[in-house]
Amino acid sequence: MCNVPLPVPALPLDGNDVLQIHPMEFLMAVSRTLDLFHPKLVDHHLKVTAISHSLAENLSLDATSHTALLVAAALHDVGALSEQERLAALSFDLADSDSHALAGGELLALFPLFVEPAAIVRDHHRPFDGASDGVPSVPGAAHILALADRIAILLDNTLSLAENARDIRRAIDESAPGRFHPTVLDAFHLSAEDRRFWRMLRSPSLLEDLQSEVRPLPLAFEGANVVAMGQFFSHIVDFQSPFTATHSAGVASVAERLSTLMDFPAGDRSLMRTAGFLHDLGKLAIPEHIIEKPGALTQAEISVMRSHPTHTRTCLSAVGGFEKVTAWAANHHERLDGSGYPNGYTATDLDLGSRVMAVADIFTACAEERPYRSGLPLERVSGILDDLVSHKKLDGDVVATLVEHMDSVDIDRRTAQAEASRTYETFRARTAT
Ligand SMILES: [Fe+2]
Ligand SMILES: [Fe+2]
Ligand SMILES: [Fe+2]
Repeated sequence: MCNVPLPVPALPLDGNDVLQIHPMEFLMAVSRTLDLFHPKLVDHHLKVTAISHSLAENLSLDATSHTALLVAAALHDVGALSEQERLAALSFDLADSDSHALAGGELLALFPLFVEPAAIVRDHHRPFDGASDGVPSVPGAAHILALADRIAILLDNTLSLAENARDIRRAIDESAPGRFHPTVLDAFHLSAEDRRFWRMLRSPSLLEDLQSEVRPLPLAFEGANVVAMGQFFSHIVDFQSPFTATHSAGVASVAERLSTLMDFPAGDRSLMRTAGFLHDLGKLAIPEHIIEKPGALTQAEISVMRSHPTHTRTCLSAVGGFEKVTAWAANHHERLDGSGYPNGYTATDLDLGSRVMAVADIFTACAEERPYRSGLPLERVSGILDDLVSHKKLDGDVVATLVEHMDSVDIDRRTAQAEASRTYETFRARTAT
């Protein structure tokens, strides 16, 4: 471990309120959410992060590189957008020219604070011999991630711990010469000698254990960077599907405008924007064949789809300081009369922020352009919202505020979604093969 605990940065928002979270804690939680996508992934990102952490400690990596490595590990396969790509990445002999590494690097590079992790992700399937940096005696973080990733895919809880550890050591040692950096291999042998290393990877509290381990690592975020991180993750979620590539940007804009019009304290307006960016984070756990299914969903598929706010809640609630963001983001499909999902909450359970988010989500979904249809005219949207108020599903004050300022709120929404669309097109162009 880096044994000098650094203070968790206090994050002032609009000079008024203070949001205190540790971004690394958030990243570990996202890492677990990514792997709910398919049972075969069994905490792959989380385990790769834990293994990377152990190897980095053995190598006494400096704190900045250590942090960049863990950010990269937590998100390393995020560029594998389809189920097929995600599962292909679990093959031990994956080709080095893998496109998901390139796409993942491009995604991470969208966030200026993740430029270093982006380079690590881009190279995480490059064999050591093919490293562009020649034969460095000190391994780069990508070399550590490359080995951690391959160790993780060989983990098998159906075998005894000792048997699985022995098989993994053998498979790694028998890999093609030059595939892994020799110094990183030495670091792995050191970890592999210790039974605690293997036990840790089977621990049911791996997320919590890792979160407390990474808290001392520095990740310098100030003020608006928390909101910017939320925006970055909205791209990760939205770019999974061209149908919704800018949806969260629209929801964040509308939610923030409504919170301003309704006189929320300045700090809460930034939290509302952050919650808007993150409201569909749980969709990372939903297979894309369900998200993108052209026809009607089966009953089973509907229930999987409707689990996404639960995943949003589970992920965000693991982050200290995100209590309001968690509630506002995760309650966006709840309705005041109890007819919403996933929890069937009623008016007494839903605070004003949750009510704002529900209205922002519906307004954006109705008004935004989709590849297969135009946005609805504002008069129609207003009629739909009024109807939902009369059926006691949405808050009347929130809807009245929106209707009163609908033109200007919609202009801001369009601007925010146009900006997200440009980012999406840039990402698509850079990853086109
Ligand atoms: Fe990968
Ligand atoms: Fe991987
Ligand atoms: Fe949603």
